[in-house]
Formats: sequence, structure tokens, C-alpha cells
Amino acid sequence: MGSELKMLVSSRMMIRVAILLLNTASGFKLCPGSCLCYESSDLVDCRSRGLVQVPLSVPHGTWLMDLSGNKLTEVRTRSFMGLWTLKILLMSNSSIRTLQPQSLSSLQFLERLDLSFNRLRWLPEDFSQGLSSLQELRLDQNLLQHLDSTSLADLENLRKLDLSYNRIRTMDVRALGGLSRLRLLNLEGNRLNVLKEGLLSRQQSLEVLLLSHNNISVIQTEALAPLRSLTLLGLQANQLQHIKFKTFLMLQTTTTHLQMSSNPWTCDCDLQRVFGKIHRVRHLRVYDYGDIICSTPAQLAGSSLASLDSQLCLAETASVLVISITVTIAVLGAVVKAEKNRKTKQAVSEAEKQEHP
Ligand SMILES: *[C@@H]1O[C@H](CO)[C@@H](O)[C@H](O)[C@H]1NC(C)=O
Repeated sequence: MGSELKMLVSSRMMIRVAILLLNTASGFKLCPGSCLCYESSDLVDCRSRGLVQVPLSVPHGTWLMDLSGNKLTEVRTRSFMGLWTLKILLMSNSSIRTLQPQSLSSLQFLERLDLSFNRLRWLPEDFSQGLSSLQELRLDQNLLQHLDSTSLADLENLRKLDLSYNRIRTMDVRALGGLSRLRLLNLEGNRLNVLKEGLLSRQQSLEVLLLSHNNISVIQTEALAPLRSLTLLGLQANQLQHIKFKTFLMLQTTTTHLQMSSNPWTCDCDLQRVFGKIHRVRHLRVYDYGDIICSTPAQLAGSSLASLDSQLCLAETASVLVISITVTIAVLGAVVKAEKNRKTKQAVSEAEKQEHP
């Protein structure tokens, strides 16, 4: 069985090599059976053809191949061997569950890869191997649960990474370590709980970070510190109850817009102060401040933090004042009483002296 499989694989390889040689040698362009090839523009359109595997014969010189809407299920090792000229590969909505090792590694000049709307649960460790020209990667709308430290490591030229609407709960803090040119990172609609220090340590060029619709309740104090170019940070619809001013003060940027509505905010003086301080930092803007709605305490649920003006801290100031006044009165009372006692005693002893000189 194993050897049959091997023979099958090697015969596939031989066919491919033969086609490749034929293409190269004769300049003859073979178009895969059910696809449309636009020779003048070197495009191969194989959209929604019911394909179950990547076609073998692809014209030499092709720079765009569209395989969207097929039933590929798995992308096999060396499926794209010989397609050195390919710059754009579209494979969205193709029921892909598995990427075999080295399935993409020959695509050294690929700039855009679209794997959105598939069924990927994980990425192979060598997923990014060879993809050093890639600038845009779409993996949104898959079933990914975790990002390890190696699968994205070689994407040194990546500018845009879309991982939205997966099931990512955890990311190795080194998962994005190789992506130093990243400008846009979309992680919306995942299951992240914590934004960890170290995760974004190489993202000095990151301009847009989208984290809405996760389960984030904690942003570690230094987590945002490396971001020097950030213009938009989306944190809507998470589980934030409180934030620390220091976390946002660490953003050494020109202008950063923050989106933080639809979180279960605990409205107290502390939160009001944090937002007050953020407002006073010139380069930070809370884009949706009017929509920061209190969740707790119960008597404030549904009120916007902005509508409470500085009431929360006023109440606190008032209670501090009441306590201070009470204490002062008590102290004064004690002093007065002590003084009275002293005088009474003095009067008594003087009277006694007069009686018995
Ligand atoms: C979401 O976060 C809360 C803590 O804020 C945690 O108790 C809960 O298990 C998390 N849910 C998921 C799906 O991770």
C-alpha cells in the first residue's frame, strides 16, 4: 500500500516535470483542462470548477492563479513546483483542511496568498518556509486555534495579515517574531483572553491592530510599548472592565485612535480618571468615548461614562470630605473636652489650696 502510494506520488511528479519541460522547451502553453487561461496576461482562472486537486499543468509564466471555490480538501506537498513566476495565488472557499509539509515552499516570489474561508485547524510548522516575498496573507474565516512560534516565522516581508474569525485562543509570544514589516494585523473575532507582553515586540511598523470581538480582559502593562507607528487600535466587544493608564501611555506614537466600546466597564472614579488622563495625552484619541457604557455597578448599568461627567470622582471626594469633617469634629471635641477637664481639675486644686494654705 505504502509503495503504491509512493509510486503514485512519484508518477505525479514525473508528469509534472514532463509538463514543465514541455512548457519550457517549446514555449507551448498548456492550460489545465477545466480552467481558462488568458495567455496575454498570464492569468489562470480555475474558479469554482469542482477541482479536488491543484491542476498539474499550468502555463509557464503564470503570475496569477485563482483556485477559489473548489473542493481541494488538502494541498499536497510540492503542488506548485515550478511555478516560480506566481505572484498571486487565490484559494479561498475551497474546503481546505490540510496543508501538507512543503506544499507552498516553492513559491518564492509569491506576494499575495488567499486561504480565507477554508477549514484549517492548524498551520504546519513550515507553513511560511520559502514565502519570503509574501506581502499579504489571508487566513481569515478558518478554524485555527493556536499560533506556534514557527509557522509564520519566515514571512519577513509581510505587510498585511488577516487572521480574523478563527478560534485562536492562544498565541506563542514569539508567533509574530519574524514579521517586522507588518503594517496591518487583523485578529478580530477570535478567542484571545490576554494581550501579552512580548507578543508585539517586533511590530514597530504596525499601523492597524484589530482585536475586537475577542475575550480580552487583560492587557499586560508593556504589551503595547513596542508599537511606534500605530494609528488604530480596535478593542471593541471584549471583556475589559478596567484599564490602566500606564498601558496606553506606553504608546509612543504620533496619533493613535482607540476603540473601546461594547466592553463590560466597571464605572468608578478610577476608570473615569484613567479616561480623563488618556484624554489629556495629545496623541491618544478615544474614538468611541461616547459609547463607553457602564456595566457595573448595577445602578449605573447602561449609562455612558461620558454622561456621568465627573460625578464618580465627586462622590468619592464628597465622601472623603465627610469623613475628614467627622474626624476633625471628633478630634476638636476631644481637645475641647480635655481642655475643659484640665481647667476643672486646675480650679478644683486651686480651690483646695485656698482652703488649706
Ligand atoms: C473569557 O474570559 C473569562 C475571564 O474574563 C473566562 O472566565 C472565560 O472562560 C473566557 N471564555 C473563553 C471562551 O475563553
